[in-house]
Amino acid sequence: MSAPIPAIVLGGTGYVAGELLRLLAGHPRLALAAVASDSQPGAPVASAFPHLAAALRGLRFASHDEVLALIAAEPRTAVLAAAPHGVSAQLIDSLLTHAAAAGTRPTVVDISADYRFSDAAEYARVYKHPHGAPARLGEFSCAVPEHLGKAPTPHVAHPGCFSTATLLAVVPLLRLGLVEPELFVSAVTGSTGSGRSPTAGTHHPQRHSDLYAYGALAHRHAPEIAALARAASGTDAHIAFVPHSGPFTRGIHATVQARLARPMSGEEVRAALAEFYAGGPFVQVLDAPPRIKDVVTSNYARLSAACDGRSVAVMSVVDNLVKGAAGGAIQWMNRLLGFDEAEGLTAPAPGWT
Ligand SMILES: NC(=O)c1ccc[n+]([C@@H]2O[C@H](COP(=O)([O-])OP(=O)(O)OC[C@H]3O[C@@H](n4cnc5c(N)ncnc54)[C@H](OP(=O)(O)O)[C@@H]3O)[C@@H](O)[C@H]2O)c1
Repeated sequence: MSAPIPAIVLGGTGYVAGELLRLLAGHPRLALAAVASDSQPGAPVASAFPHLAAALRGLRFASHDEVLALIAAEPRTAVLAAAPHGVSAQLIDSLLTHAAAAGTRPTVVDISADYRFSDAAEYARVYKHPHGAPARLGEFSCAVPEHLGKAPTPHVAHPGCFSTATLLAVVPLLRLGLVEPELFVSAVTGSTGSGRSPTAGTHHPQRHSDLYAYGALAHRHAPEIAALARAASGTDAHIAFVPHSGPFTRGIHATVQARLARPMSGEEVRAALAEFYAGGPFVQVLDAPPRIKDVVTSNYARLSAACDGRSVAVMSVVDNLVKGAAGGAIQWMNRLLGFDEAEGLTAPAPGWT
């Protein structure tokens, strides 16, 4: 086996960055080389992630300049970017520009929203600010790994957590022509979906022991879900998306409902879903309704389906921080680097979190 490729994590003290570090600690072909922090360069990485101290061996957060020096010195690097949207585009642009000048070849997977749209005007409309590096958009593809065999670009944008859970259900229904092209999605996320910094609407006392919708039919991830569903299925469907805050820390449960294109039983839909995902290691189709505890902390997704003859409901669960962010990003990085896509990602969920 060749020497491990140096991995660089951006978005240092964030929740997704922490999950990237945890997964990289067990990855046989990627070796953590630097974690960039905008706010704490020079501080021990374990001060932000005490639970990872044993794997970090005294590593300190790197500054942006230290990361640039590493990018220029290493012929190949794996850059896993978990900075906020609106920051990530320029951060990645500066790394790629520096690498081009030095003649080195980083491979980037961005977990923010910055490279999900192919059109800068659509990004600006949804995110309410101009795109930070529009000339780079053509260098990124965006899809759930299970829906795009080989990326046609050197870099990839992860579709995000709500999109992953939703698209895993929506895309086979549309691509196989099982439903009318109008789907209704109700999805519930745990509180880590909002990141590390508490705000009045997202901190623990607000969300604990409660369940409520937000951004109903107007959430900024809805246009991403519609565009990615269209690209992955070839069908221009209307997808009505209602996200909810759930009283748990991690995980997403999405329920997708639609009218069947022809009468089918739940058993037939589950068999079609199982066949659709049979070639990949991470999507499991069950007879019973899937539960978030059975996937939380893992890169696995679970689906099930029920039918009443006229309509179908597909239930989909993922861990928002792993399959919906850090794990899905490493799955893409594995593919882009020519590794088995499951390298470092096959640990099952503990079940009792
Ligand atoms: N949480 C999820 O479930 C989830 C799922 C899918 C996708 N995502 C996306 O993944 C990214 C990270 O999410 P998260 O939940 O980890 O957020 P987070 O906990 O808020 O962390 C983001 C980190 O980015 C860094 N940062 C902030 N401002 C910066 C700046 N101006 N320049 C460079 N770095 C800056 C900060 O770390 P330093 O100050 O140490 O640099 C911060 O801790 C976001 O784009 C988010 O939309 C999140």
